Amino acid sequence: MCGIVGYAGNIDTACGKPLEVCLQGLNRLEYRGYDSAGVALSAPGMDQVVVRKKAGRLKNLIDDIERRPLPDATVAIGHTRWATNGEPSDVNAHPHTSRDGKVAIIHNGIIENASQLRLDLQAEGYRFASATDTEVAAKLLGKIVDKVIAENGGKPDLFEAMRRMARMLEGAFTILATDCRQPDIVVGARHDSPLVVGLGDGENFLGSDVAAFVAYTKRAMEIDQDQAVCVSADTVTVTDFDGNVIANPKTYTVDWDASAAEKGGWDSFMDKEIHEDPAAVQRTLLGRFDANGDIMLDEVRIDEHDFKAIDKIIVVACGTASYAGQVAKYAIEHWVRIPVEIELAHEFRYRDPILTPRTLVVAISQSGETMDTLMALRHAREQGSKVLAICNTQGASIPRESDAVLYTHAGPEVAVASTKAFVAQITAAYLLGLYLAQVKGAMFRDEIHQVLDSLKDMPRKIQWVLDTQASTIQSAAEHTVNANSFLFLGRHVGYPVALEGALKLKEIAYTFTEGFAAGELKHGPIALVDEGEPVVFIVPPERGRNVLHAKVISGIEEVKARGATIIAVAEQGDPDVERYADVVFWRPQCPTLMSPLVDVVPLQLFAMDMAKLKGYDVDKPRNLAKSVTVE
Ligand code: F6R
Repeated sequence: MCGIVGYAGNIDTACGKPLEVCLQGLNRLEYRGYDSAGVALSAPGMDQVVVRKKAGRLKNLIDDIERRPLPDATVAIGHTRWATNGEPSDVNAHPHTSRDGKVAIIHNGIIENASQLRLDLQAEGYRFASATDTEVAAKLLGKIVDKVIAENGGKPDLFEAMRRMARMLEGAFTILATDCRQPDIVVGARHDSPLVVGLGDGENFLGSDVAAFVAYTKRAMEIDQDQAVCVSADTVTVTDFDGNVIANPKTYTVDWDASAAEKGGWDSFMDKEIHEDPAAVQRTLLGRFDANGDIMLDEVRIDEHDFKAIDKIIVVACGTASYAGQVAKYAIEHWVRIPVEIELAHEFRYRDPILTPRTLVVAISQSGETMDTLMALRHAREQGSKVLAICNTQGASIPRESDAVLYTHAGPEVAVASTKAFVAQITAAYLLGLYLAQVKGAMFRDEIHQVLDSLKDMPRKIQWVLDTQASTIQSAAEHTVNANSFLFLGRHVGYPVALEGALKLKEIAYTFTEGFAAGELKHGPIALVDEGEPVVFIVPPERGRNVLHAKVISGIEEVKARGATIIAVAEQGDPDVERYADVVFWRPQCPTLMSPLVDVVPLQLFAMDMAKLKGYDVDKPRNLAKSVTVE
């Protein structure tokens, strides 16, 4: 949701750097929220923290700072907001300050007891300018800071005040604070919301994810659940909320460069990331085989013996990640012959799912911070099941709280709409399925190797789609740009691909779109089909061998007879499709279970082209944020 950055530098060298780091970090974090942005700076001699904030995109804040420059500082905090409490506006933007203006805070999450705290503070005479829960925390922190100063004989201790406040808050939060009386430190606390430290030389950083500081350092430190942190230029101290020091917080090196999170000449991040689909599959396969070509998932940390005992898989995920799980269900059930359930993470724990120690729960998440998925995995672990995360973000909460992790190596995904992560998630889930087949002896070794050969060939096939289908896709978007609604239909693995294609068009082109299993057409959705209604069909490959091919073609005939405009994703040269479809996005030949990896690609491009034709910002669609860290 919101993006958070913090910086503590050396008094002699910092000057404009705290502000520079914040603005640069906010620029990289803007995908997390973009309805307002702000910074707060502290330096020795300041009487109050200097705060500047503006509604709208980060650019508004930067323009404002250029017009009215800010003073040099030693520490700074910066925030880009995705509104939860209070509409996007200058006054609701973060940072928020204490009553005396000496303390400023930024916050990600939702403080659930904010209303009560606000009433308590109002009863003591506090006034509030904004509708936010964050301002409540700012006023509260200011009050606690004053109390600590009184107890300490006049000495401020922002770190202690932050811990005391963290113990009082309910809900989800990452909070950073600066106090002009301690202009050498930034303090933070987290509960159910991400926070990571960047370790520099003579400077340290804080961020909601490593993108906040990767341009400056690749050394990162994890801050765990219910921990507080204090960074100065030369020190990093981590404690629990009671003040007990955490001895050796886990550190790691970020495995991607700042350039990976830059547009690099592309028109948009989405365009760049769709074109990284082949590399995302390739990199996710890299290093996962031993010298004999067998799958080796060393990093997974679950004993082979435990893997053998697994008799059911439940995938928990949201949105695009859940569709990747749905694709994997078809493959894993076919290969391993154990049931695979797929459950939207936010529904999971409320339906009292049947979980045993032999159930493997697979949590799929690009960001690794999706609160719904995190809550689902916690529930699964409480019930005694093992959880394996398929995740694209090193050190994020979901992999950290899981028993095992299989990282996708898609590289940072910046555009809000998920694209390359989807193909990487399918690839990782396929590796998991084939590994299970290997350890359980559910398939012959040769069969597994044959499937792996097809999988390894998919980056080339995806590249073919990118190289040859772009102009057809662009003109299809031009022809249908004024359509009021779309239907997306598919069967078997084509069904989740249809759902994903529909989701992409909804979220970035704001077109009303529904995805259905094509077999469902006659049971209701066909009533929607009218003259000229665009209907997108995912036509299965392996014509003649795949019984579903003929059934999907019948579906096409039925809607064609009612005047629909047919857009098909189909195998190169499929004569049935050529006969009926108005437009075809061709795929090269591939086995049915591999087809989702290519079929989604034209749908991603189609949604992007459509959004661009309508003049929308494809990277930052309205109302959405990249990582959904609240329930
Ligand atoms: C769609 C999209 C969302 C995410 C969903 C899960 O383009 O981006 O549907 O897929 O919010 O996010 P992660 O994978 O980060 O858990």
